[in-house]
Amino acid sequence: LRIYVPGDAAAVACGADEVAMSLEAAAFNRKVDIKLIRNGSRGMHWLEPLVEVETARGRIAYGPVEPGDVESVFAAIAADAGPHALCLGPTDDIPWLKKQTRLTFARCGVVDPRSLEDYRAHGGYRGLDRALADPANIINEVTQSGLRGRGGAGFPTGIKWKTVAEAKAEQKYIVCNADEGDSGTFADRMLMEGDPFVLVEGMTIAGIAVGATKGYIYIRSEYPHAIAVMNDAIRTARRMGMLGPSVCGTAYAFDLEVRMGAGAYVCGEETALLDSLEGKRGQVRAKPPLPAHKGLFGKPTVINNVLSLATVPIIMDKGAEFYKNFGTGRSRGTMPIQLAGNIKHGGLFETAFGITLGELVDDIGGGTLSGRPVRAVQVGGPLGAYFPRALFDAPFDYEAFAARDGLIGHGGVVVFDDTVDMAKQARFAMEFCAVESCGKCTPCRIGSTRGVETVDRIMQGIEVTKNLEVLEDLCNTMKFGSLCALGGFTPYPVMSALTHFPEDFGRAPRLQA
Ligand code: NAI
Ligand code: SF4
Repeated sequence: LRIYVPGDAAAVACGADEVAMSLEAAAFNRKVDIKLIRNGSRGMHWLEPLVEVETARGRIAYGPVEPGDVESVFAAIAADAGPHALCLGPTDDIPWLKKQTRLTFARCGVVDPRSLEDYRAHGGYRGLDRALADPANIINEVTQSGLRGRGGAGFPTGIKWKTVAEAKAEQKYIVCNADEGDSGTFADRMLMEGDPFVLVEGMTIAGIAVGATKGYIYIRSEYPHAIAVMNDAIRTARRMGMLGPSVCGTAYAFDLEVRMGAGAYVCGEETALLDSLEGKRGQVRAKPPLPAHKGLFGKPTVINNVLSLATVPIIMDKGAEFYKNFGTGRSRGTMPIQLAGNIKHGGLFETAFGITLGELVDDIGGGTLSGRPVRAVQVGGPLGAYFPRALFDAPFDYEAFAARDGLIGHGGVVVFDDTVDMAKQARFAMEFCAVESCGKCTPCRIGSTRGVETVDRIMQGIEVTKNLEVLEDLCNTMKFGSLCALGGFTPYPVMSALTHFPEDFGRAPRLQA
């Protein structure tokens, strides 16, 4: 009897380890032989720990299971019997999963993340096989797919790879940015914990495409589970000849190493990350030179987010046309969207670009967990804009969000109900920037601290009109004068709060159209 209990950090935080132990004990007492697999999460956080049982009818889900439920769940499982209060039916039929288009996350929660055989059995390494059959065409395929950087900036992945491929150097590197620091985001972690070989495969394809023989995965220290799973996957891939001096018995060499981050938000910025990887203090470098020309240890470097690299295998497997057919406008393919904050059904929802913010929050997410009306939604992490309900018709795509002075960033959506104080949120944005600033440039280092003081004065009702002008001025200085996105994007949450929720800043609310 095969039973799946997620080993994913979110599920473990909800008690998955205790549930797994209770299941083993119950099986032992009943003298039933079970194979317990610690899979990744399916991404439905309100159902964790989600236990799945393999039956003749496919996988049947139970959740959320607590250790105290295990005896009765086990009785139902062992007899493959009768309805149980926690039984959700076949996993694949759960509406939340059924509505998704899972391309990057196709295997997450399905496979045993520790098994390369299971990865292969579910289509793994087919992308690499195709890449090896025509290595000169990899970059063209990735470019044609329309894949854009999933870390947040949305730069075309194929163009980045082409720049590195064309750079002349003895040594090149592939660096994976797994320093996922945005509020409300967890997709990188979930993918690494649930389907680590897809990242290994994606990085290997990138290495072959640009002529790099070494890759690093920079994972934030707060992700110990992901670090352990990735290290394990790398060792297994090496043992099976998928990494090392001869990838799959070919003339291509490629190997990987995991490096643990040191806990600074700014180390998610690519050049600070490279400094940190080199053993230095993580500080932003001026661009140019771009990392594509002069990156890790001064060598041409592809630096991509986990999701960008993990999407390459399916593009190589199914072809650029297949991937490109999903999405809208210049936002092609799918986006793993992370629903978080005060939301009833939070978790990972992968879907084609174009779904509206309202559909995501109200229909998929089911509104707030508190049951109160949704007032604001922050999209794109702590540097993303706040959207009011009036903008819920915004389609989820890079350009549509930019047109509304927002960004989709890494796909994090954080929901707030009507008790939120938007002046406090604006203050938090400035405070976050002040705490996390690397200190290299003045608008960010000084501006953020002055920003906190100015919002404080507005909140205290001191010279509100004058201080609102100061705040807007500060935001413009930070936006146009900062060296990196931390200082440059902090104005987005501040200005969007001010524009859409002026009443929280002592201003008359705008008339709704
Ligand atoms: P950027 O626009 O400066 O660069 C985007 C990428 O394209 C970089 O890798 C850059 O090196 C590359 N690039 C630009 N021009 C190129 C060219 N001609 N050839 C080759 N490569 C080229 O944006 P940046 O500063 O790297 O990222 C900002 C974004 O990061 C924000 O939009 C924000 O959403 C996101 N972010 C994500 C976080 C997360 O946790 N994932 C945390 C904080 C910010
Ligand atoms: Fe450092 Fe802030 Fe300047 Fe970025 S904007 S380089 S974090 S001081």
